[in-house]
Amino acid sequence: MNIAVRYHTRGGNTKKVAEAIARAVGAAAGDCDVPIAGPVDLLFLGGSVYGFGLDDAVKNFIARLNPSEVKAVALFGTSAIVKTGNRDMAKLLRERGIAVLGKDFYCRGEFTVMHRGRPDAGDLSRAAEFAGDAAKGL
Ligand SMILES: Cc1cc2nc3c(=O)[nH]c(=O)nc-3n(C[C@H](O)[C@H](O)[C@H](O)COP(=O)(O)O)c2cc1C
Repeated sequence: MNIAVRYHTRGGNTKKVAEAIARAVGAAAGDCDVPIAGPVDLLFLGGSVYGFGLDDAVKNFIARLNPSEVKAVALFGTSAIVKTGNRDMAKLLRERGIAVLGKDFYCRGEFTVMHRGRPDAGDLSRAAEFAGDAAKGL
């Protein structure tokens, strides 16, 4: 199975999750400025919520994806409070005709004085488990 991992991060929280996912599936995690090279069976895509919305970098990445080269996307994300990031990414992907797995991964991400240390070891272990299950098609 050909697997790719892409994420966008401003502060590093989502990158930590991306790297845990990449380790779990034996892939390399790349910033979403790096386009997908060739067809993939499963793309793990991660983003966060800033001012109640997605960063333009994630929206642009989704807009540039070739639907015929991406069989399915597994979403992951972090935020302080609002849990709409994965839902918003799923909507944009489905509008482009790209399949999104029913299961996604979300955890809190540190923001100023909130959620210090998150994602923590427990979050990263749950992310790795999620990735393993997604790659096995569970
Ligand atoms: C400029 C800015 C705006 C944010 N706006 C929101 C928001 O509207 N809702 C929310 O739940 N979290 C918000 N957050 C918190 C981030 O979503 C959270 O810290 C996330 O884990 C950041 O991921 P990153 O470190 O990968 O960039 C904001 C953070 C920043 C820096």
